[in-house]
Amino acid sequence: MASSDEVRKWHSDNRVGWNEGAAAYEAELEERIEFLRAGGQNFCPPEREFLTDLSTWCHRAIHLQCAGGTDTLSLWNRGAHEVVGVDISDRMIEVARKKSAALQAPAHWFRSDILDTPTELDGTADLVYTGRGALCWIMDLDAWAQVVVRLLKPGGKLYLYEGHPFSDLWTFEDKEYVLDPEYGDYFNARPIDSEGWPSTYIGDLGKPIDEHALKHERMWRMDEIVNAALGSGLKLLKIKEHPDLFWNRFPNMDPANVRRLPQTLSIWAEKPA
Ligand SMILES: C[S@@+](CC[C@H](N)C(=O)[O-])C[C@H]1O[C@@H](n2cnc3c(N)ncnc32)[C@H](O)[C@@H]1O
Repeated sequence: MASSDEVRKWHSDNRVGWNEGAAAYEAELEERIEFLRAGGQNFCPPEREFLTDLSTWCHRAIHLQCAGGTDTLSLWNRGAHEVVGVDISDRMIEVARKKSAALQAPAHWFRSDILDTPTELDGTADLVYTGRGALCWIMDLDAWAQVVVRLLKPGGKLYLYEGHPFSDLWTFEDKEYVLDPEYGDYFNARPIDSEGWPSTYIGDLGKPIDEHALKHERMWRMDEIVNAALGSGLKLLKIKEHPDLFWNRFPNMDPANVRRLPQTLSIWAEKPA
């Protein structure tokens, strides 16, 4: 298990990396504002299955690792009365602030490591929403689950829609499933260092890979995710595996082949009343 100093160091490196990656989110600011202004909801089909009737039960939704806030504000468009976004990246939070200001949306933003999410938010969430490339940046999953529990009201729900750990094992560019030399070990329990971004997400930002900040990603297995949730006291209500992707992870593969393996997962859980 990583020491707390290691966890802090990796998170602080990732803050630098994500401040770099935020450039891609800044570039699409106006387009995203128009999307949201038109009532857009940036959710994948599996998410729409779970996130229903928000206007009837969700006063406050807290989005952990909210990035540029499009998905957070999509929760508002889907019926949440107010939304809160938390993210470690200064530039991402600035992008999110600009969006809610343009839309005059009931949103609050916090630039914070998830593990330090301000205690003023404790016990205020009807819904904690997160995922789509979030957990791999968190180096202590038990601490993460404890944050989720402290944010939720009794009876409040967690919805996690995340990349399936099985989906992380394969190379991006191949036409068939080929185990990635680095990511292809399902039982690797250490973070993997990386520079740069996949070509179908963020891209090279106009500079060579070795000029990008060093980041650290940790692939969590299914049992680790479930046990972190159970260990925090959350009651698991439903787990579902999906063939759907949330980004173009395998640009050269036949889509029918992509859908033969699990690509994403949903966890729906509740803080006991
Ligand atoms: C892939 S994005 C999450 C998906 C998001 N829905 C999107 O629009 O892309 C990952 C986010 O996690 C944030 N992040 C990484 N490590 C974090 C940490 N320790 N605490 C809070 N946010 C973190 C990054 O800044 C980034 O915005």
